[in-house]
Amino acid sequence: MEIKPIRIAAFASGGGSNVRAIYSNIAKGALSAELVAVISNNSACGALQFARDNGIPAFHLSVRQFSTAGQFENRLLALLTEHKTELVVLAGYMKKMPEMVVRAFKNRMLNIHPSLLPSFGGKGLYGHFVHEAVLNYGCKVSGVTVHLVDAEYDTGPPVLQRCVPVLDDDTPETLASRVLQEEHKIYSDAIQLFAEKRVHIVGRSVRILSGTEK
Ligand code: GAR
Repeated sequence: MEIKPIRIAAFASGGGSNVRAIYSNIAKGALSAELVAVISNNSACGALQFARDNGIPAFHLSVRQFSTAGQFENRLLALLTEHKTELVVLAGYMKKMPEMVVRAFKNRMLNIHPSLLPSFGGKGLYGHFVHEAVLNYGCKVSGVTVHLVDAEYDTGPPVLQRCVPVLDDDTPETLASRVLQEEHKIYSDAIQLFAEKRVHIVGRSVRILSGTEK
């Protein structure tokens, strides 16, 4: 059966390797999605440059460009609406999404986090700091979580999680790179489930329906 590409808007702050991976999976025909906008709080963000280079609408939007937080929130929401966004994907976005936008996209906003939540999540635990904390704790496995976004940091229900081994001689950099490889697959897998309308949310529990249950 033909699957209609889901319209996604991505938010990023840094290098943007997750945005690139999503774009590449779409280009390969492995993901039924259309990347309709890339938005960043950081004008030097690699994901913004990548979007511009590939003809994807790219926006630098920071609360500092507005006189009030309300104006910023309204602009974000307007942008997402103008682009007929069906699913918002936070891909290394290091700012808290305003609650009003989270509410407007309830159960339609995803984040990727480089650990097995609820371990090593929350305010201050992002990027490099996560891998450092995992190694300092002496964990034998780490992993990736794609979760629905709620009003707090990293607390929404998981959609998909996958494990990644921690090796004895890992540094935060080597662990980050192994985790990122998994991120580049799992995020597209999660988006594809939304495109196929196979995500069923019951309270805090996200059930993935089989192809025949939809
Ligand atoms: C990724 O590892 C992502 O999981 C992490 O930032 C990195 C961004 O990489 N996000 C968080 O820590 C959010 N709490 P990228 O810019 O190359 O996609």
